[in-house]
Amino acid sequence: MMMLNHQSQSQRTALVGLLATLLPFFFPNLFSPLSRSFPSMFSEWNAPKPMHSSLLEAALLRQIPFRHQLDLWSPLPSQGWEPCPDLQPSTPLPKSQGYIQVFLDGGLNQQRMGICDAVAVAKILNSTLVIPHLEVNPVWQDSSSFADIFDVDHFIQVLKDEVSIVRELPSELSWSTREYYATGIRETRIKTAPVQASAEWYLENVLPVLQSYGVAAISPFSHRLAFNKLPINLQRLRCKVNFEALAFVPHIRQLAGTLVNRLRYPPSQSQETGTTHLKEGQEAIRNRLGSKFVVLHLRFDKDMAAHSACDFGGGKAQKMALAKYRQVLWQGRVMNSQFTDEELRYQGRCPLTPEEIGLLLAALGFSNTTRLYLASHKVYGGEARISTLRKLFPLMEDKKSLTSPEERAKIEGKASLSSAVDYYVSMQSDIFISASPGNMHNALVGHRAFYNLKTIRPSMGLLGKLFLNKSIEWSEFEEAIRAGHWNRQGTIRLRKETQSIYTYPAPDCMCRSS
Ligand SMILES: *[C@@H]1O[C@H](CO)[C@@H](O)[C@H](O)[C@H]1NC(C)=O
Ligand SMILES: *[C@@H]1O[C@H](CO)[C@@H](O)[C@H](O)[C@H]1NC(C)=O
Ligand SMILES: *[C@@H]1O[C@H](CO)[C@@H](O)[C@H](O)[C@H]1NC(C)=O
Repeated sequence: MMMLNHQSQSQRTALVGLLATLLPFFFPNLFSPLSRSFPSMFSEWNAPKPMHSSLLEAALLRQIPFRHQLDLWSPLPSQGWEPCPDLQPSTPLPKSQGYIQVFLDGGLNQQRMGICDAVAVAKILNSTLVIPHLEVNPVWQDSSSFADIFDVDHFIQVLKDEVSIVRELPSELSWSTREYYATGIRETRIKTAPVQASAEWYLENVLPVLQSYGVAAISPFSHRLAFNKLPINLQRLRCKVNFEALAFVPHIRQLAGTLVNRLRYPPSQSQETGTTHLKEGQEAIRNRLGSKFVVLHLRFDKDMAAHSACDFGGGKAQKMALAKYRQVLWQGRVMNSQFTDEELRYQGRCPLTPEEIGLLLAALGFSNTTRLYLASHKVYGGEARISTLRKLFPLMEDKKSLTSPEERAKIEGKASLSSAVDYYVSMQSDIFISASPGNMHNALVGHRAFYNLKTIRPSMGLLGKLFLNKSIEWSEFEEAIRAGHWNRQGTIRLRKETQSIYTYPAPDCMCRSS
């Protein structure tokens, strides 16, 4: 229980929720309301030890030249790309063919992509979109609706010349609900949309349903619209939804704004602002870099740890616990476990631990006076793992350290709202880095590219190889990291045919600046 006490209530709730779902599989006889203190039974909660102690010792003593720090923190120069101007909408909107509903699975960032695609599908079909329904994610258990997260009026207003959007179905169609589709086979439910479906697929398969019934409910709808071979106006529309129409509700923006303010102007340094003289040394660095901060998105949860089949230094107990968990969650589908830990690391397929991401940041040139905001839902191994990172970055903050419980009340225990706050803070940061590829990483890589903001993409393959080498010296590690990452800090990469427009908005949604 010790370790859990360090986690926020929301982390604890989500964790307990997850364990509660899984525990009956492990110990069917044990599961009773009386066994509420069950996490303490897991010996996998033994504190994980640092895996790279000699690198860690050297990193703690690092001295980073002022020049390096200035380079690292300076904004990206212009790369000759900027958001495209809006295309002239073809007003007035054509007569609506009916109503489109979608029910979206996944976490907030997966749902975000689904919302953008839904607007595009509504446009393809000249139909009216009903504000998308967000399904409750079985792991995160957040039942927040679209309107709890996003500003609906803003959404409808920004898109009004492109697609008509309504909050709910008119009363004569009000039978078409999520519950109605859950209880039987229905003519108006489109269940068969293929992954990466084309615009033609929707015209052939969904338009007839719309024309017969006036409504079509598409679910599942994750990744159900292709990225290639779509007309440019549809691509631009998808970007407009993602980068312009989707704004968080005011209380989320307000809380995130408070976090950003406290990161930029921490109380202890407020009296120093205004000093502009330049001199080498700690004080000058603080003055020049004083208001800057980096966001680290650290996703290192049990799902991910287990899924990777890598070894994270937690000893035999942890290894067995993860293997068991893997078996329960993904029975039959072996995934990665045919490889040894060494092979997986070599291929760059192991998520970075907090310790490893700390070493990466230190090698990149982040000093121990860096203000680091941790955007993270929960960390497998808890505070014991985080503490290694905190040693390298003593000024590490998160929602909990920067706000009072009263300020956080509205998002407490709500994974989607909490993730929305982190998204907003991440967009405001000087530098964003994500410890693992995933939906949040991709969403922010794309959104920050759109505004030419610095975003570091760890080279997983390089890191895997370096961490395998137990005899590597700090100076060599540092040099290899710098060399491997100089062009991974936000250089515009043009989208390849099947890649996501939300991760690579150029060239579809970005134009050459004049
Ligand atoms: C930061 O690093 C410097 C140089 O290695 C060291 O003297 C200082 O004590 C460290 N500060 C903290 C807060 O760890
Ligand atoms: C949608 O409207 C446009 C413009 O009026 C028209 O060219 C197109 O054929 C319509 N498509 C459908 C599916 O109704
Ligand atoms: C590990 O690092 C050392 C020191 O840089 C180097 O000599 C050695 O070749 C590396 N080993 C492997 C397997 O890469």
